[in-house]
Amino acid sequence: MNREPLGVGIVGAGPVVQAIHLPTLARLPDLFAVRSIMDVSPDVAAAVSGRIGAGASATLDELLADERVEVVAICSPSAFHASQVIAAMRAGKRAVLCEKPFATDREQAEQIAEVSRETGVPVIVGAMHTFDPGWTAAVTEWESLGHEAHTIRSRVVLPPNARFETSATEVLTPRPASGLPDLDDPSVRAGMVSGGVMGLAVHDLPLIRRLLPATDRPATDDVEVVSASALSPWGYELGALVHGRLVHAVGALTEQWRPTWELEVLSDTASMLLEFPPSYVHAGSAVATITTGEKTVRFGPHAHNGYEGEWRALHAIASSGSAAAPGVETLIEDLVFAVDLASAAAGRVRQEEIR
Ligand SMILES: NC(=O)c1ccc[n+]([C@@H]2O[C@H](COP(=O)([O-])OP(=O)(O)OC[C@H]3O[C@@H](n4cnc5c(N)ncnc54)[C@H](O)[C@@H]3O)[C@@H](O)[C@H]2O)c1
Repeated sequence: MNREPLGVGIVGAGPVVQAIHLPTLARLPDLFAVRSIMDVSPDVAAAVSGRIGAGASATLDELLADERVEVVAICSPSAFHASQVIAAMRAGKRAVLCEKPFATDREQAEQIAEVSRETGVPVIVGAMHTFDPGWTAAVTEWESLGHEAHTIRSRVVLPPNARFETSATEVLTPRPASGLPDLDDPSVRAGMVSGGVMGLAVHDLPLIRRLLPATDRPATDDVEVVSASALSPWGYELGALVHGRLVHAVGALTEQWRPTWELEVLSDTASMLLEFPPSYVHAGSAVATITTGEKTVRFGPHAHNGYEGEWRALHAIASSGSAAAPGVETLIEDLVFAVDLASAAAGRVRQEEIR
């Protein structure tokens, strides 16, 4: 490639940056060079940037003032995402990648969309499965065959994050051990379900929304949560009817079971199964199968996963302009779908306690 790699600035340098983004960027030296890392903890910024020979910024303003920083990745805790995405856009950067969720509600998401339109700076959201080449190949085929999903099931079983983080890298900022949550407390159960939807299921909700018929896509007015519960020691179960289609999502963090991340889609005429690698695992893409009658067609595995896919997408967008970026309307509706499901599910969990 003739062009110089794009300069990257990273905001927030926690386990996700150390175990996901830096190993991914290390595989893409022709596309990206990390120039600066900022964290509210200067020690963390210095230690993480020192590992890769990048600069450390003490503040967001300092990172954004660095002209070598052409694209920005926002990897801080979610509460800070919207304001930091907007600051990066206003600083005139070429594109922004924001970890999921990119906002906490519709109002924030719409503010981001407005500033993106005003400044022309595109944003993509790191809901990694959206960028998995196994998924994109399979869904393109599914849509071209005109199948209409009536049932979608998401099943996620993972060890606690720290196990895969420490397999991917030597994490400089290990997560503090947290005790077992008190599931007798209804607010803990409600928080676990909404946290599970916004933290784990969120990677698949844009896929699920895309699999609903096109006329149903701004679906949030017609979402009915029919079951929701917290699972011990940590997990969620959620059943919802979306325009009469069944969406069922189960997620559990446990050391005991085989790690699994699957999305199963059923129509009257076909079924599609996507088997994703667990989060933090750098081992290629999802493998997808579409079965119609007697025939099963397989997609993947491709050499790269959704994490690499999102960085590749960012590079394409930053190089060719915002026309190549996903529409901000889609990002808003994806976010609102997730937030509405999370809050309806938490509401249901609280109600069950009252009965
Ligand atoms: N894509 C995935 O698979 C995946 C997995 C887990 C989490 N995430 C997302 O990634 C993001 C980071 O996750 P994490 O587990 O590394 O989080 P974390 O909270 O453990 O670490 C975030 C880092 O940001 C720093 N920070 C705090 N406030 C900041 C601010 N205002 N500005 C800059 N830095 C700040 C903290 O000091 C910390 O080092 C979150 O948005 C989370 O939702 C993504």
